[in-house]
Amino acid sequence: MVGTCPTASSGAHGSLAPAVVSADDLPDGLVVVDATGRVTCFNAAAARITAVRAADAVGRQLEAVLPLEDLDGRRWWALTDPYGGLATRTGQPERNLLLPGGRQVLVSARYVREHPGGPVVRLVVQLRGTEARRRTERSHAELIATVAHELRSPLTSVKGFTATLLAKWERFTDDQKQLMLQTVDADADRVTRLIAELLDISRIDSGRLEVRRQPVDMAAAVRRHVEAYTRAGLRPDRFRIEVTEPLPELWADPDKVDQVLGNLLENAVRHGEGVVTIEVSPAQLKARAAGTAVTVSDEGPGIPEEAMARVFTRFWRGSKRGGTGLGLYIVKGIVEAHGGTITVGRAARGGAQFRFTLPVAAPAFFTQA
Ligand SMILES: Nc1ncnc2c1ncn2[C@@H]1O[C@H](COP(=O)(O)OP(=O)(O)O)[C@@H](O)[C@H]1O
Ligand SMILES: [Mg+2]
Repeated sequence: MVGTCPTASSGAHGSLAPAVVSADDLPDGLVVVDATGRVTCFNAAAARITAVRAADAVGRQLEAVLPLEDLDGRRWWALTDPYGGLATRTGQPERNLLLPGGRQVLVSARYVREHPGGPVVRLVVQLRGTEARRRTERSHAELIATVAHELRSPLTSVKGFTATLLAKWERFTDDQKQLMLQTVDADADRVTRLIAELLDISRIDSGRLEVRRQPVDMAAAVRRHVEAYTRAGLRPDRFRIEVTEPLPELWADPDKVDQVLGNLLENAVRHGEGVVTIEVSPAQLKARAAGTAVTVSDEGPGIPEEAMARVFTRFWRGSKRGGTGLGLYIVKGIVEAHGGTITVGRAARGGAQFRFTLPVAAPAFFTQA
């Protein structure tokens, strides 16, 4: 039902153009109105959003087809007066308006003039349903509820132990006091970490995660992480590092690479068992770009097949061994901000296997102006 709707083609004009886009292909509602206020185009999405058939809309006056009202009940077209008013106006920004029956719709309009300051020859109106926005609002509300819950449990314990200690200080032995304070200390750490992770998540979700690229020696970074674990008391034979030389020179954000390695190793130690194997090797990424691949495998229970799709989502936790469930979400966000990929699978000896790749990202490619 293209009718009188404009048709855009990406190539030269003519019937041969392969990528002709009809107005009905557009995801958003499109309504085009001529200089006299008559509707000349009403695409399929507009019909779906307004529940008005295109055949009933085309040829009629805009105000009759789309009797929009603002949230105060004022008639929108009379209020904005697209054909009158200042001749410098170019349109209306997106507004939340009401269709008859009270359904909400997001509306924006463009006033097309033959020449700047001239009369409006065409009005192009875009309509968008509000379901998508309501869905994101709902998911934000869910996120806030989860965060509030995650913050409350450690704080409840901090409050409980401090209140008990303050009220009954004399009645506890030094050992008991020490134990309580250690719990308080661990819970405070947990809150601090959760907040740091939430800040990372807000950067990832809003696309503000900054990647400051420098040369990174991935094999050395892996060795540093393993050394930190053995210094903290883990047996050195819990780890095996396998490096396939020569590795391409890698440009990445060293702090963020540390965060990725730290999270994957912590998971392998905490959720996995047995020997943790870390392989670093050159990788061929898609589009034949060179890169570095890192695989972290363990010999623990692994991730159940049906949960593999969910491990990278926020707050997903499989085991009860602590953790916020945010680690892998952040890891994926960091890897993808570098232009890399991360996958999960089953290790040769049964445990979980996480593999991420980072493109070498030649510095010239990324030099900032
Ligand atoms: N190496 C692993 N072996 C088994 N399960 C794992 C492993 N790594 C991650 N998981 C599972 O994935 C979940 C999400 O991991 P993550 O996002 O890091 O959150 P957290 O470690 O805070 O629980 C974990 O709770 C755990 O159930
Ligand atoms: Mg984790």
